[in-house]
Amino acid sequence: MTHPALAPDSVAVVTGGASGIGLACAERFAAMGMAVALADTRADLLAAAADRLRAAGARDVMTAATDVADRAAVEALEADVAGRFGGTDILMANAGIQPGSAMFGADEAWHRVIDVNFWGIANAARVFAPRMIARGRPGAIVATGSKQGITTPPGDPAYNVSKAAVKAFTEALAHELRNTPGAQITAHLLIPGFVFTDLTRRDRAEKPAGAWTPEQTADFFLESLNRGDFYILCPDNDVSRALDERRIAWAAGDIVENRPALSRWHPDWAAAFADYLKGG
Ligand SMILES: NC(=O)c1ccc[n+]([C@@H]2O[C@H](COP(=O)([O-])OP(=O)(O)OC[C@H]3O[C@@H](n4cnc5c(N)ncnc54)[C@H](O)[C@@H]3O)[C@@H](O)[C@H]2O)c1
Repeated sequence: MTHPALAPDSVAVVTGGASGIGLACAERFAAMGMAVALADTRADLLAAAADRLRAAGARDVMTAATDVADRAAVEALEADVAGRFGGTDILMANAGIQPGSAMFGADEAWHRVIDVNFWGIANAARVFAPRMIARGRPGAIVATGSKQGITTPPGDPAYNVSKAAVKAFTEALAHELRNTPGAQITAHLLIPGFVFTDLTRRDRAEKPAGAWTPEQTADFFLESLNRGDFYILCPDNDVSRALDERRIAWAAGDIVENRPALSRWHPDWAAAFADYLKGG
């Protein structure tokens, strides 16, 4: 099975496409012969990224210094892509930041994370989707979420909130698209594991053993898109799908079993969680 939008005559737009997971996926689109637009705030990285896409075989490439948190900028991006390539078939709403946050930390930090990670994806989907539907071609909208938006581990609450919002938004988008007569656009939630990129690099020069490369993530993403998966739950070298399934089921079980919030990290529940992971 292949997704019908994964075709040489398609046009792909990738936000946060100047580096990391977005760039690796854009390279895969380029290798299929697509025209690809990269949108990113890192204008300094865009020219080199575009060269990589041309080398990979892109039919055409354009770049845009776009802040996805700004709806007007996203509207200008959509118009530029339509003017240059005729419209969009694949939207990868992927731009994201993780500067860190604290529950009672500065408001500005919370607002920026939610503006980029949630509104950046909502802006892109809400601006592009109606035009993609009207184009009358098969298409796909992929939003990059996170396991942190599903199991919401302690440590970076603003990021978790932003990615939980991305999950809920993208689920609603999938429902909306499949109930829109004539729409041939599918929605997908990409849930990376630990991937070695600028977002996770910190002071490390080398990829930690547990992390995947952006290229491994892009390959897994394409296989999953071709299968028609909505939840594209990526493993990494430390975390298998089976372990993710247990962690996700335990998190949902907090409500069903009336356990305390985030019981996985509650000392009174540590033994029960460890037991559950072992299949107990
Ligand atoms: N790396 C991981 O382990 C991991 C895990 C789960 C989810 N993710 C998500 O994957 C996505 C891609 O991240 P990555 O790991 O490739 O990191 P990355 O930093 O390499 O890529 C993110 C890109 O988004 C761009 N960006 C940031 N703010 C922007 C804005 N306002 N407008 C446009 N572009 C903007 C950055 O300049 C960068 O090029 C993010 O949404 C991130 O939250 C990453």
